[in-house]
Amino acid sequence: MDELKFNKLFAGVLLAGLLLMAGIKAGDILVPSHDGHGHGGEHKNSYPIEVAEVADTGAAVAAPAGPEPILALLAEADIAAGMKLAKKCTACHVFEEGGKNKVGPVLWNIVNADKGAIDGFGYSAALAGFGGAWDYSALNAFLYKPKAYIEGTKMNFAGLKKPQDRANMIANLRSLSAAPAALPTDAEIASEAQ
Ligand code: HEC
Repeated sequence: MDELKFNKLFAGVLLAGLLLMAGIKAGDILVPSHDGHGHGGEHKNSYPIEVAEVADTGAAVAAPAGPEPILALLAEADIAAGMKLAKKCTACHVFEEGGKNKVGPVLWNIVNADKGAIDGFGYSAALAGFGGAWDYSALNAFLYKPKAYIEGTKMNFAGLKKPQDRANMIANLRSLSAAPAALPTDAEIASEAQ
């Protein structure tokens, strides 16, 4: 090997060494070791990947985690608007007293009725076993996103996302009874989960 070649090789090795050291230094700066010793196992979690949940709409504001309260809206809700909205339900439900169950059960007198209790309807195990009555809050949660409220329900309906729509729909359901349920009291409105 002549001297020139040797020098080039030596320079190359030196450069590689320097780059390696520089890399380690940069690593020290970017990823400070927690215990102050070396570059051990702590690297694994040095860059946690956090992916923010993005709402379907792409809106900058995060989507609300659940159904907004609606009890305060019920007294002034628009029953006629609720009736119009019921077009979203009539593929599967009828609302008349003495009507026939279709894909879903008859929804006459459903406010405060026990869940899964309409005669002759074959409910999913999820709904049949859920328990409780269809009070205003249960309806609010179910109609917001049926499959979130009752996991495994066979009601294939995305839900009513607008609080005013749910209030109008529930006011409509309330009217579909020989003896409509009482409106919520001020105390119930005040204590409704936010
Ligand atoms: C694609 C069909 C479909 C649509 C649309 C639909 N539902 Fe249902 N609904 C069902 C089925 C099926 C069930 C029974 C679910 C089960 O057993 O899990 C049900 C159950 C219900 C129940 C519970 C009844 C009970 O006796 O416990 C309510 C309340 C209800 N639906 C309201 C509505 C309203 C209000 C709408 C419109 C905003 C609607 N549904 C739209 C199919 C549908």
